[in-house]
Amino acid sequence: MRNKLVAGNWKMFGSRAMTRSLVAGLAAEFADGAPCEIAVCPPFPYLAEACRGAEETPVTVGAQDVSDQDEGAFTGQVSGAMLAEIGCRYAIVGHSERRSLNGEGDALVAAKFIAAQRHGLTPILCVGESLEEREAERTEEVVGRQVRAVLAAAGIEAFGRAVIAYEPIWAIGTGRTASPEQAQAVHAFIRGLLRAENANIADLIKVLYGGSVKSANAAEIFAMPDVDGGLVGGASLEVEGFASICRA
Ligand code: PGA
Repeated sequence: MRNKLVAGNWKMFGSRAMTRSLVAGLAAEFADGAPCEIAVCPPFPYLAEACRGAEETPVTVGAQDVSDQDEGAFTGQVSGAMLAEIGCRYAIVGHSERRSLNGEGDALVAAKFIAAQRHGLTPILCVGESLEEREAERTEEVVGRQVRAVLAAAGIEAFGRAVIAYEPIWAIGTGRTASPEQAQAVHAFIRGLLRAENANIADLIKVLYGGSVKSANAAEIFAMPDVDGGLVGGASLEVEGFASICRA
């Protein structure tokens, strides 16, 4: 049985005050125990604040990215060691916005996945196809390539300490979600890929769905057998809505 995880990806939104009140609000909301694991992923400047606020609460903290490097002349980058030191548990790698806007390819994403684990962080590996790719029936080819690139670099054992998030690009921030059946089909495909290498790890790994998850649609998507929670963008920026997604 896999516990569910709901992670909030704030993207480049928020403020210090909002970080404080959102983490405190979630902690208060779930003071008597949370129905699932809850993570928040604020922008880098607010991570330390979030980690402090999350101490001794059911809330955990993740970064939206991590360097593939450990230390050195890499202006603007943040290492896994730094994130682990301040108390982060997760690092998102390969988000489609970084793949498309920052030109991150499969090899760099795999290196970031490995770097996160090297420092004890759990990578949340994002994969997903564009609308054009879906319409050309290339979803499995694209998602398969993205997962296999990390498998080839990190090995199957590494997936025992990782989370995967399936985020169809056409559903991110568009208000258009994948149907529960569409999500389930891709999640089962991903799990099947891993099962071919190691059945135990395939059964244990959490595969989250992301792309316009909100309180109104979370329950039906999370009810699918291979959907283990969500990576939530826009709807994670406000306590009530995010808490209700966690309850779903
Ligand atoms: P969204 O974003 O929930 O706003 O669609 C999800 C994500 O990009 O992780």
